[in-house]
Amino acid sequence: MSAIVRGAQLARMLNAWQVAVGVRGPAGKRPEYVILANAVRGLLIDGRLALGVRLPAERELAAALGISRTTVTAAYRELRESGHVSSRRGAGSWTELPAGHRVGTTGLWTPSDEAGLIDLGCAAMPAPPELTAAAAEAVTDLEPYTAGPGYQPMGLLVLREAIAGRYTERGLPTSPDQVMITGGVQQALDLLLRLLVAPGQRALVETPTYPNALSAFISGRARLSSYAIGPDGWDADLLLSTVRAAQARVAYLIPEFHNPTGHLMPAALREKLPPAAHAAGTDLIIDESFVDLALDEDLTADGAMPPAVAGFDRTGRVLTIGGMSKAFWGGLRIGWVRGPGPLIARLAAARVGVDMASPVLDQLVATRLLQRRDTIVSARRKQLLVQRDTLAAALRAELPEWRFVLPRGGMVIWAELDAPVSSALARSAEELGVRVAPGPRFGADGTMERFMRLPFTLPETDLIEAVRRLAEARTDLDRPRRHAWSAQTILA
Ligand SMILES: Cc1ncc(COP(=O)(O)O)c(C=O)c1O
Repeated sequence: MSAIVRGAQLARMLNAWQVAVGVRGPAGKRPEYVILANAVRGLLIDGRLALGVRLPAERELAAALGISRTTVTAAYRELRESGHVSSRRGAGSWTELPAGHRVGTTGLWTPSDEAGLIDLGCAAMPAPPELTAAAAEAVTDLEPYTAGPGYQPMGLLVLREAIAGRYTERGLPTSPDQVMITGGVQQALDLLLRLLVAPGQRALVETPTYPNALSAFISGRARLSSYAIGPDGWDADLLLSTVRAAQARVAYLIPEFHNPTGHLMPAALREKLPPAAHAAGTDLIIDESFVDLALDEDLTADGAMPPAVAGFDRTGRVLTIGGMSKAFWGGLRIGWVRGPGPLIARLAAARVGVDMASPVLDQLVATRLLQRRDTIVSARRKQLLVQRDTLAAALRAELPEWRFVLPRGGMVIWAELDAPVSSALARSAEELGVRVAPGPRFGADGTMERFMRLPFTLPETDLIEAVRRLAEARTDLDRPRRHAWSAQTILA
């Protein structure tokens, strides 16, 4: 079953979209149905309205918008003709994109060592200075493990204890047998999909979302349904009704400082998600990659963050994935899954067919780093807060027509551009020595051309210079092209 958008919901989105892009006001000579069709198309292209969503019946939308049914009929016809809607008599109308408008999501981000290039393609930071001492201590911790074979598919007990202890501190009592160590959050997701989702089964993802998660779903040959996150975050009614209607095998959500939008899911919605998922037969995969990176002061005190989604789970439906890449270092390749003990045991058995176990020494380094958690995380937060504010100030000064909601944590600003030119701008910016991830990298379907993800993980001087070059590239775009376009940027 596909997701449905109700008349009142679509009317709300259309109003918000019209205000955002400034199409309100005198309609000029264009007929009303053309304006409506253009607005629905705009919602789709911007990724605010997901693909494969059933549109409201003509009568319902007409009532919600206070216009005549004939206008809605004509607008739907126009959308069918342009390839943005398909209809089946008696069944309804669904959103789609014209043939050939899908983009692949299998891009691979590769760090560049090109001199002078400012690389904003990746949202990750260098290792903390504590890594060297942690690694030296880990070498001395290694001795007792060398007497055994070293394969531990669940992961080392010391590390699982440290991670379980952290969940317990956050108000989510957890035992070590509910935790399995993986090669980063990416492997945690991949293993869960192998275990839970057979090819052809449905999976629900947010749009926009983290591109490498999309790649994992696509390689697992899941059938994707999407839920579009709005400019202010999740619309609780729409998300819950989408979960109910999609009846997906799994739903993948990033509630903390969502990548790329930066939103933080409120507690009230977290509470409603597990029961809705349970009723739909859906397991929730909750990606907590950024949970430690609250930046605003009111969120950094103990207990100030909304509770973990898993804290509201009464039926074993929530699988939480987390890791050390964002608050510590991506090069460690340490992540984990937290879930019901029996499922974790099945996951460990499945993992043996993939890579047997995580490296012992790396897990010992991770354990030593976690002992320094408070120092490392608070330094990270301080640095990210300054860099976030620098990036925001530079954007406001150099690109005042761009809009964004200042994220309260995480590592990225999701900027809404003044026009749907993100991919062209990314190509043109690379000629000027800035690499950025254009909006369509984060949508399953080639939408999001009006958005760009800008990480604030680089030093302040680089961020200021990157925005200056982006502003120059944006001005250049409006001039006739002087250079041939460079090869397609490949980013994650
Ligand atoms: C939401 C999200 N999940 C997973 C990952 C991958 O994490 P890891 O390096 O632990 O595999 C990232 C990295 O950017 C991410 O943003």
